[in-house]
Amino acid sequence: MTADAAPRDDAKRVKFFDTTLRDGEQSPGIHLNLREKVEIAHQLAKLGVDVIEAGFPISSPGDLEGVQAVAREVRGPVIAALARANERDIQTAWEGVRDAERPRIHTFIATSDIHMTHKLRMDRAQVFAAAVDAVRLARSLCDDVEFSCEDATRSDVAFVAEMVGAAVAEGATTINIPDTVGYTMPTEFQRFLLELMERCPALAEVTVSVHCHNDLGLAVANSLAGLQVGARQVECCVNGIGERAGNASLEEMAMILRTRAEDLGGLWSGVTTTEITRASRLVSRLTGYAIQPNKAVVGRNAFAHEAGIHQHGVLANPLTYEIMDAQSVGLAQSSLVLGKHSGRHALRHALEELGYDVDRDALNHAFARFKDVADKKGELTAMDLEALMSDEMRVTVDAGLALEDFAFSGGSGEVPRASVVVRGPDGDTHRGEGTGDGPVEALMRAIDAAVGSAGRLLEYAVSAVTGGPDALGEARVVCEIAGRTFAGQAVSTDVLEASAVAYLRAVNASRHAEQGERVAAAGV
Ligand code: KIV
Ligand code: ZN
Repeated sequence: MTADAAPRDDAKRVKFFDTTLRDGEQSPGIHLNLREKVEIAHQLAKLGVDVIEAGFPISSPGDLEGVQAVAREVRGPVIAALARANERDIQTAWEGVRDAERPRIHTFIATSDIHMTHKLRMDRAQVFAAAVDAVRLARSLCDDVEFSCEDATRSDVAFVAEMVGAAVAEGATTINIPDTVGYTMPTEFQRFLLELMERCPALAEVTVSVHCHNDLGLAVANSLAGLQVGARQVECCVNGIGERAGNASLEEMAMILRTRAEDLGGLWSGVTTTEITRASRLVSRLTGYAIQPNKAVVGRNAFAHEAGIHQHGVLANPLTYEIMDAQSVGLAQSSLVLGKHSGRHALRHALEELGYDVDRDALNHAFARFKDVADKKGELTAMDLEALMSDEMRVTVDAGLALEDFAFSGGSGEVPRASVVVRGPDGDTHRGEGTGDGPVEALMRAIDAAVGSAGRLLEYAVSAVTGGPDALGEARVVCEIAGRTFAGQAVSTDVLEASAVAYLRAVNASRHAEQGERVAAAGV
């Protein structure tokens, strides 16, 4: 029943174009720094995606640097950068990816009347000319060029056919048909694509791609429908993050192709599905976006059989209720346990087993943090270690504000009061005190007093990384700071400490965003 058993025909291979670092990073509240982007890109390479869209370099200097870092450090996948159909965007995108082993420029322009009239204020002839010039310029710089018709599914199919025909004639190697606003439906999308292919036979010479948004919950269904009528590239994001309701979820697409290969006429992908869980957790931690418990493939309940009747069936024969096994997504429960007496060697071994590359510096940082937590908690499981490592990675790369110390007072009937010491990027320390309705608010106000921020808590959640009374706690916050939304996440044995660090990370993200104010790119 899996792709492993199905014959593999090259013509049926579906390329995975991951846009977690571009469309995903455009989600409200997500602001990844350079090292975080590189860390995610390395994991995407392990996951076996074909293309990593690393960013939109014209949007900010930070984005350009992030794309350059991914292009220089990550080997294996094609590294793509997004550009609107104009010279400055395309030159900057090229600056971003030119050092990649296999660079791609991805240029786009809107083709629907509503976008052309109200957003671009251009007529069809102008849009057509801009697209032709853009692809020609991109192709003069790079052999691998993708062209997208933004809002294609609400565009006149005859006009889209003309545009993509011209783009192919100028040398575009991939033509992407986005359902930008998540409006289409599977059969309608298939009809659109089939008519497009009929009107533009040149599409047979290039890779046709689909990029679907999830506003009506149909991103995966529409993407799959596109693949069934001949598209061979799917654009998706880990955990389905992305603009508004998100993009097609990478893990769902990969597991559909694997689980239903025979019924999909042998469509297959190069995704190493056993890396899915790790990629999902990494993206969730670094973006601060929690995964809903019942999320397909990666939610914590996705492989749990709670109800007695289900448990009974699964024990008798797993196939009664299981259509995929936990191992296939890398969820095999590792028996790995480290105790407070475990040494550096055991830690290195455990980290390597979890897939981390550990040099001496990283091991020293990891060991200090491990000891600190193991002394308080006793034993650490693989999941604890993974949570700690992604947290530690952020401590060492996020050169922003760091929590040095905090204290809290306020028994029953007293006003909760907190004090903090925050270390700044130059090693300078800032002290602050604050009160609030509860301990978390008191800590936030103390941080605000120390560093001059002013955040409003929109969402707050704490959860246990693994079960048990001494569980490692994970805090997530979503805050409004200076009129924008920022997410933060942190783990600690003390949930108040985790909460304070999560808030400080949101403050760091807001400062980072302020430094490289984004160029408005409506509709992208
Ligand atoms: O949704 C969209 O249309 C996009 C394009 C830039 C491909 O993200
Ligand atoms: Zn998109």
